[in-house]
Amino acid sequence: MRAHEAGALHGNDAAPTWLPYPADVNALLDGLWSRTTVRGADGALEVGGVSVHRIAEEVGTAVLVVDELDFRARAARFRDAFAAAFEPYRGAHVFYAGKAFLCTEVARWVDQEGLGMDVCTGGELAVALRAGFPADRIAMHGNSKSDAEIRRGLEAGIARLVVDSLEEIERVSQIAEQLGVVAPVMLRVTTGVEAHTHEFIATAHEDQKFGISLPTGDALEAVRRVLERPATLDLVGLHSHIGSQIFDVSGFEIAARRVLRLVAEVRERFGHTIDSLDLGGGFGVMYNTQHTPSSPEALAQGIAQIVAMECRDLGLEVPHLAFEPGRAIAGPSTQTLYTVGTIKDVHLGGPHHRVYVSVDGGMSDNVRTALYDADYSALLAGRVSDAEPTVARVVGKHCESGDIVVKDEYLPADLRRGDLISVPVTGAYCYSLSSNYNHVPRPAVVAVRDGEIRTLLRRETEDDLMALDVG
Ligand SMILES: Cc1ncc(COP(=O)(O)O)c(C=O)c1O
Repeated sequence: MRAHEAGALHGNDAAPTWLPYPADVNALLDGLWSRTTVRGADGALEVGGVSVHRIAEEVGTAVLVVDELDFRARAARFRDAFAAAFEPYRGAHVFYAGKAFLCTEVARWVDQEGLGMDVCTGGELAVALRAGFPADRIAMHGNSKSDAEIRRGLEAGIARLVVDSLEEIERVSQIAEQLGVVAPVMLRVTTGVEAHTHEFIATAHEDQKFGISLPTGDALEAVRRVLERPATLDLVGLHSHIGSQIFDVSGFEIAARRVLRLVAEVRERFGHTIDSLDLGGGFGVMYNTQHTPSSPEALAQGIAQIVAMECRDLGLEVPHLAFEPGRAIAGPSTQTLYTVGTIKDVHLGGPHHRVYVSVDGGMSDNVRTALYDADYSALLAGRVSDAEPTVARVVGKHCESGDIVVKDEYLPADLRRGDLISVPVTGAYCYSLSSNYNHVPRPAVVAVRDGEIRTLLRRETEDDLMALDVG
């Protein structure tokens, strides 16, 4: 048990200090649930006009339920917020980061909402292309792209290939030459800024696998190498992504300043003006009461001010900007519905105990708790209860004691086997990080809207699990 939890035990339960005792254990906490989630007349949750009981009956559990209107609205809000903030300058585009969650239907929503698509592997590119996503609005990342992935992106005619290393420059150039195209190249630079939630650190050097180091001079050398190859490479701009679950603009300030200084240096040394900048994604979401994300408008306005001020100081025209939110669009749109299985009340010593609530999923559909120590929330979804709230830990069905979905949550003391519970904000980095651990089939993903359920990804079957087993 970690120290903050051990110190936080109070009464006869094991609640961490950040977790407020709920005035109403049935209430939907503001900001945590997708926009169409409500309690229906029978007390069960409804999303997109569909009761969770109907979803469970028709599709089964565990199931990820995407509120289509919520997803679309978040995408549109980011699109508009950044376009408006950079409207006085040369504009800004938003690319949805497909790594958060991607399937062909979601790619079509993103297309219809007018955003670009950020992919980081050949597989993600294949999904976007299969969906008919316009290649000239696709950006392709990857710190270890294969030649085949580079070739496929260039053949498809993507908007930009984000080059991640000095070594990749020559490879892209050669492939472009073979294909007889000029590759649109962005250079991903690492500025030494790393941001996580409210904190960020700025260091002189970075110890991580992404990008080309700016502080060491490699980024300037990369620009030189790209500019040296005008027949095969077109330097579209510079890219910087500083981290994830970021709630304010302070981390972007130092990163933007450092990247813009490089833009100024490139102009001075090579007489070349870099007129496009991508500041990546990483905008935070609320998973529980500990998190207070900024609005897209506040983020966009704040970053626009920072960039404009830096440009003025450096005597540069404000470049065209791009951003790549993934989590902030997909995350809050989705909730995972589970059926409760075994419940155990475990004595922790003295008056303390913890209720373990097992569900029909776990780390195979949400590994973020195990991987990142993430704190999720949960709610009794199939009915309301007037029982006392009690601290519970929602755990999966996998053969791993770290198989925890929600570390701490107040759930009604009369929770029982067969109840439906829902975990909100599971739209990002849950299904996309899913696995078949213990040969548990992946859950279904459905979209709900206007009383309709549409399957986006069907539930895996045992046959699917066996399909690769050629023995
Ligand atoms: C280059 C890049 N862009 C965008 C994103 C999306 O980040 P988020 O989902 O936190 O917005 C990531 C996440 O890892 C990333 O690496």
